[in-house]
Amino acid sequence: MAFEKLDNKNAYRILAPRPTIIVTTINSKNEVNAAPFSFTMPVSMDPPLVAFASVPSHDTYQNIEEIPEFVVNIPPETILEKLWITGEKFPYGVNEIEKAGLNQIPSELVAPPKIKECVGHLECKVEWIKDAGDHNLIVGRVVRTDIKPGSLKDGLLNVEKVKPVLHLGGVDFVVGDHLRKVK
Ligand SMILES: Cc1cc2nc3c(=O)[nH]c(=O)nc-3n(C[C@H](O)[C@H](O)[C@H](O)COP(=O)(O)O)c2cc1C
Repeated sequence: MAFEKLDNKNAYRILAPRPTIIVTTINSKNEVNAAPFSFTMPVSMDPPLVAFASVPSHDTYQNIEEIPEFVVNIPPETILEKLWITGEKFPYGVNEIEKAGLNQIPSELVAPPKIKECVGHLECKVEWIKDAGDHNLIVGRVVRTDIKPGSLKDGLLNVEKVKPVLHLGGVDFVVGDHLRKVK
């Protein structure tokens, strides 16, 4: 059976479903921004580095150029509809956390706040940024990590409980509540 050839522009569509995060940032006027991202991954354990790719025109990227810090917020399934609202296009300076009916709480070591309803938060300081085609790759050093009690099981994310949100594309998500073991 021959494989069906796909347009290379669609390669990212089969690198899915992808973990979905909400990135919070602020600008120099202390205005808060939040937006979902699924082009994201850990890139180093020591030092702890994480990356996400943003279209340069996004408010998130504009803010990071002003204040090079961000928080990776890990959303549970219960806030999927609110996550979607944070992804809508609002004018620059509008706080999507408020628009989505979520709550912000101060971070410990970075200026952008974190989202209370998320189960974990990675407070990050930008290490470097590189142009990557129509996106920019932002790599941040994690300076503080927290997790809601009960969200880990044997040191791993408790997927049955948290039900992390995985992005398939567009409005389609996979909710990771089905765990399959290979052994
Ligand atoms: C589930 C989901 C994942 C997304 N992933 C990305 C991404 O990885 N990179 C990106 O540039 N935009 C991504 N977007 C689009 C932005 O979140 C969206 O354009 C948002 O309005 C940008 O907000 P901002 O201008 O406040 O930063 C995603 C949207 C959704 C709903």
